[in-house]
Amino acid sequence: MGYKSIAIDGPSGAGKSTLARRLAEAMGYLYVDTGAIYRTLGLAALRHGVDAEDSSGVIALLGQVAIDLRHGEDGLQHMYLDGEDVSTAIREPRVSRYASGVSAIPEVRAFLMDMQRDLARRQNVIMDGRDIGTVVLPDADVKIFLTATAEDRARRRYAELTERGTDTDFDTVLRDIIARDEKDTQRAAAPLRQAEDAIAVDTTGNTLEESFRQLLGVVRAGV
Ligand code: C5P
Repeated sequence: MGYKSIAIDGPSGAGKSTLARRLAEAMGYLYVDTGAIYRTLGLAALRHGVDAEDSSGVIALLGQVAIDLRHGEDGLQHMYLDGEDVSTAIREPRVSRYASGVSAIPEVRAFLMDMQRDLARRQNVIMDGRDIGTVVLPDADVKIFLTATAEDRARRRYAELTERGTDTDFDTVLRDIIARDEKDTQRAAAPLRQAEDAIAVDTTGNTLEESFRQLLGVVRAGV
């Protein structure tokens, strides 16, 4: 018997990671945040002075740096770059832009695919990202496409960033979200789109609790 997998895809700031983490806790599954993997490579590019749009530079970087994903005793995912825990550093807005850039390179996606599939081979997982239901785990037991309006997502992201002490303003966050949406949906390699068999859940105007209850119902009905 194989393990169960739940795929949650959608644009930035729809609440994927918070909701997926809570769902994983409720279901006893491992939560895998795939965006963090792209962010770690984005951070590597930033630190090595490699432009995120420079495909050959980024591909060369894949052979020079070590990217690891480990789950702590607390069940939380930590990302390591050359042995350093970069779980906090990868949340910076400029790293988001680098992550979006490097993730558009097909060789990068192919390279990071095994890491993601391996995790789902070894335990029950809830994995969130952009192409989990369409590319990484096309046979996932439940696929959810989580959306919300750009304004709603920017409001949440802005609150998150200011709470973390990042100096930014709402308009910049909204502009960043719209630019990343455009990049993630327009790119040729594994663009963000809803899988045909995914269930769409729109969280606009919902409290976190409302979205969580809704998702838990969808997930429990599917596994
Ligand atoms: O989800 P998060 O905002 O952390 O992801 C950062 C970036 O990584 C996204 O904007 C997207 O370009 C990329 N990404 C991706 N495929 C995934 C997860 C994230 O291309 N499965």
